[in-house]
Amino acid sequence: MALEKPRPVRETPVKEMDDAEAGEVLQTLAAEIAEHDKRYHQQDAPVISDADYDRIKQRYLAIEARFPHLKPVDAPSDKVGAEVASGFGKVVHRVGMLSLDNAFTDEDFVDFVERVRRFLRIPGGDELAFTAEPKIDGLSLSLRYEKGALVTAATRGNGAVGENVTANALTIRDIPHTLPAHAPEVLEVRGEVYMTREDFVALNERQAQLGKQTYVNPRNTAAGSLRQLDAALTAERSLKFFAYAWGEVLPELPADTQSEMVDRLGEYGFKTNDLMRRLTTVEALLAHYREIERVRAELPYDIDGVVYKVDDLRLQQRLGFVSRSPRWAIAHKFPAEKAFTILNAIDIQVGRTGALTPVARLEPVTVGGVVVTNATLHNAEEIERLGVRIGDTVEIQRAGDVIPQVLRVEKSPPDAIAFVFPSICPCHLKTPIVRDETAGGAEGVVRRCSGEFACPYQRKEHLKHFVSRKAFDIDGLGDKQIEYFYDDATLAIRQPADIFTLKSRDDAQDLQKLKNRDGYGDTSASKLFDAIEARRTITLDRLIFALGIRHVGETTAKTLARAYGNWAAFDEAAKAVAKGNEAAREEMDALDDIGPAVIEAVGRFFGEAHNLEMVEALVSQLTVMDMERPTSDSPVAGKTVVFTGSLERMTREEAKAMAERLGAKVAGSVSKKTDLLVAGPGAGSKLKKAAELGVETMDEDGWFELVGT
Ligand code: IVH
Repeated sequence: MALEKPRPVRETPVKEMDDAEAGEVLQTLAAEIAEHDKRYHQQDAPVISDADYDRIKQRYLAIEARFPHLKPVDAPSDKVGAEVASGFGKVVHRVGMLSLDNAFTDEDFVDFVERVRRFLRIPGGDELAFTAEPKIDGLSLSLRYEKGALVTAATRGNGAVGENVTANALTIRDIPHTLPAHAPEVLEVRGEVYMTREDFVALNERQAQLGKQTYVNPRNTAAGSLRQLDAALTAERSLKFFAYAWGEVLPELPADTQSEMVDRLGEYGFKTNDLMRRLTTVEALLAHYREIERVRAELPYDIDGVVYKVDDLRLQQRLGFVSRSPRWAIAHKFPAEKAFTILNAIDIQVGRTGALTPVARLEPVTVGGVVVTNATLHNAEEIERLGVRIGDTVEIQRAGDVIPQVLRVEKSPPDAIAFVFPSICPCHLKTPIVRDETAGGAEGVVRRCSGEFACPYQRKEHLKHFVSRKAFDIDGLGDKQIEYFYDDATLAIRQPADIFTLKSRDDAQDLQKLKNRDGYGDTSASKLFDAIEARRTITLDRLIFALGIRHVGETTAKTLARAYGNWAAFDEAAKAVAKGNEAAREEMDALDDIGPAVIEAVGRFFGEAHNLEMVEALVSQLTVMDMERPTSDSPVAGKTVVFTGSLERMTREEAKAMAERLGAKVAGSVSKKTDLLVAGPGAGSKLKKAAELGVETMDEDGWFELVGT
């Protein structure tokens, strides 16, 4: 099971779909995409090929474009892919950094062992040894030593090219700067950077106190910490490192087996995991899996499974790789964690868009080493479906980063209280709650407070979004501070512009009132004012994103910013869209990945007087930087280009970025709209399709010749 085979396709053409079917398919595809994104970006373990992923995504987008009103909450079109860290140099891995194939059941693992035996023609009776060790939930790092000295540390990146994080890695205590004399002349050591749960909790507490972004879990924290541009910041985070693999080793490997090699790494000064065992039967390996699962919660760090590897390195060599994963290893994942607890209350949370979400407040319970106190109940229908009442004992599940879910009711005492979904928003306005409507006029499941900007909950959420990391990112002004300032009568921050008038209002209030508030000393007040000042100049894309227009996520904001170039042009276009100007709508519609849902939302936002006032007050406080427009006089400007096959002079990402810089649109699949196909060696179906459709095709050299670089 290296990569899953694409499912047999029997798909209704989008044109023939009705609302009911489209809604259902959108939900299913959105969930599928989210899962694949997670596997690819967070777990480094995709189960489908890039091409199949693209196909699913394309289908999703096609349906969403036709049925924008059925767009699911958390739609994949609102999300960006992997965080691409910039500012680091690139490192080309001499030996690619691979992912692992996954096993989810004992049977999957048995199948894996049988596959290995068949491949190597080792009969069942003959001994075959594997190592089994915890799969650390961190991020992989490759350390290159030459003549005993650390020369580069690189993240995995896309497996072929990673980021150079050497300065940061040097601050990690588990990473030796030099190796003993007997170590190989060239040695690339690979392993996992991680953070203990204890350090994670302590760091998050500090972050919260400073009003900075808190992290979701130790893994994200470790990744964020390693990718600080300032190595001094990495040094402040206590990161750790386990060595479990290697890349290039010259002149030769100092061992014949996986387990001996890990021993060698230990001798060279690396930390290795003491739960690694070399075992020779499936039974013993599975028993060790259970043992690791049993001690999981007691380990100081997060793990998400067990990795088995063929022990004999010559056999590993013979087995080789399939696509991104070795044939000689597999990750046996732990199932999602479940636990029983009591549901003490159901609260209603009001989101930024006014959506009301019921949240279960739980008797604290530890699930897989993490204390869970809340779980989402999604909506009123879900509460009804579960039949859950306050006081019930419920089974909850927590899987990875996902918000814990209530699975079912285990026990309901006679005095349990049924929950009545409120008909007015918990905000003091007592505004009525409206339900989203589907195009067919049916009631949707999402209920919203109709108060919009008048609803303090929504305003607060808007403000929190406004200062968040990908928006204005103001140091020292986080969720907590927004709550504090919002409720403060004299220093009230009730709309974004108020942030930028805070200092002058504070001064006017005579003698630095902020200075005398809880937690605000001399330095923290002036630090906050400095941080606000630093953001008075802002890029156009951040500003657009920060406005919190529905459906306008980070990527869409970038697209809009690039297309309109400066605030005045965007503002004018948005207002024209709001007035129903057809030309303005069409112009926006022509932009990549922007469909009716976004246009509708932009129009609505810019059609509301109080939003316009809010925006005007804000912009008058700011210097908005213009956006670089892509070159439009290049030979590929405005054309749709597809890259396929393996590219040799550039990575896929580079190719895409280059084409976009030159004003081209890059698509994942060939269609009638494709203008140009750039095909490297190994190109298959796309090349064939291009030939059928008469699409111009060239190789990589031809591309460079065409664009003149
Ligand atoms: S071996 C060729 N061993 O899991 C295979 N990987 O899903 C090299 N990981 O990218 C990886 N613990 O970041 C290996 N004990 C372990 C691991 C481990 C965690 C990570 C690693 C890899 C990912 C694949």
